[in-house]
Amino acid sequence: MSEFIGSKPDEWEGEPRPLFLAPMSGVTDLPFRLLAKQCGADVTITEFTNSTALSREAAVSWRKMESHETEIPFIPQIFGGDSNDMATAAEMLAPNADIIDLNFGCPAPKVTKICAGAALMGEPDNLVSMVEGIVERVDIPVTAKMRLGTGSSEHNAVEICKRLEKVGAQRLCVHGRTLRQRYSGEADWNYIKKVVDSVNVPVIANGDVVDAKSAAECLNTTHAAGLMIGRGAIGRPSMFGEMKVGLGWEKEENLPWVKANKEKWFELDEIGKSFATRKWCWDKYIQLSKQTTGIQGKWMQRHAVAFSKGLPGAKKVRSLMHLQPTPEDFAQSISEFLIGELFVE
Ligand SMILES: Cc1cc2nc3c(=O)[nH]c(=O)nc-3n(C[C@H](O)[C@H](O)[C@H](O)COP(=O)(O)O)c2cc1C
Repeated sequence: MSEFIGSKPDEWEGEPRPLFLAPMSGVTDLPFRLLAKQCGADVTITEFTNSTALSREAAVSWRKMESHETEIPFIPQIFGGDSNDMATAAEMLAPNADIIDLNFGCPAPKVTKICAGAALMGEPDNLVSMVEGIVERVDIPVTAKMRLGTGSSEHNAVEICKRLEKVGAQRLCVHGRTLRQRYSGEADWNYIKKVVDSVNVPVIANGDVVDAKSAAECLNTTHAAGLMIGRGAIGRPSMFGEMKVGLGWEKEENLPWVKANKEKWFELDEIGKSFATRKWCWDKYIQLSKQTTGIQGKWMQRHAVAFSKGLPGAKKVRSLMHLQPTPEDFAQSISEFLIGELFVE
């Protein structure tokens, strides 16, 4: 058993379980993943990357697979409809990775039309033999992330997960929606519990976990080995630490943004705390970018919109953002906005 995976835990009785930052295309670049770890995420995964492009050594795709020595474990996620390309890409990634994760959950038409992502759940035999082929070709653990099923027939995640366990998948993650649902409706945690009960490998529950309350509800319902958080962490990677505090797994005074603000923190109102938290996260994101990938305008702009969302004055600052002459000026203007009038003494 891999040190990075562990065994299936017993029923959840309130003890800490790992929190995963969900792989999110266009969101989880390397500096954001490293930031999420500093905020309390236990495991991070790259955004999904096309295995055919990787197997043909496309530079743009390989850039998405960049990691850093502090990203432990390093888990690249790949997708594709061609079993051979999937196995080749996994083999190429394996020497530098701790785990290879396979995407069987993406509902985007550009992915499902090549019968990859969640579309493969409609072809369980192909999905299972693809995973079997990859497990045979790499000597590191292989994990898979999927949905409940396609939604055009009965859910089949239980059947698929049982078969994947048999062919050697070491951990499974289930997003409690179907392909057809995309992101509509509610995640079905009761079905995820059925998957947890059907296999002996750890299962990670995913879908609609956004705070400590929903995290506790999801763990109480599923008894999953861990939780994966996606949309709730966009612009708010601090969510991981906040969730751990709310669950009684961590003390508020140990959170890095609380430490950075010392005793002033406990005098702040909720808006002041939001500004202070997001400023710490933003400055750290920029610092981590400089240390790893370099500041990249496209990524920074996306994160700037997400980090400022919902704060008073955010719309105004966004209109000013584009006037900044250099990426460094842009980064600085966001940092200054996040000082927040209410936070300034
Ligand atoms: C913008 C965005 C990009 C995503 N990209 C990926 C991806 O690259 N790989 C993947 O497995 N899932 C991807 N997902 C799905 C998430 O990993 C997760 O399964 C889904 O958002 C449900 O979790 P949540 O309710 O916590 O957001 C993406 C979701 C979003 C919103």
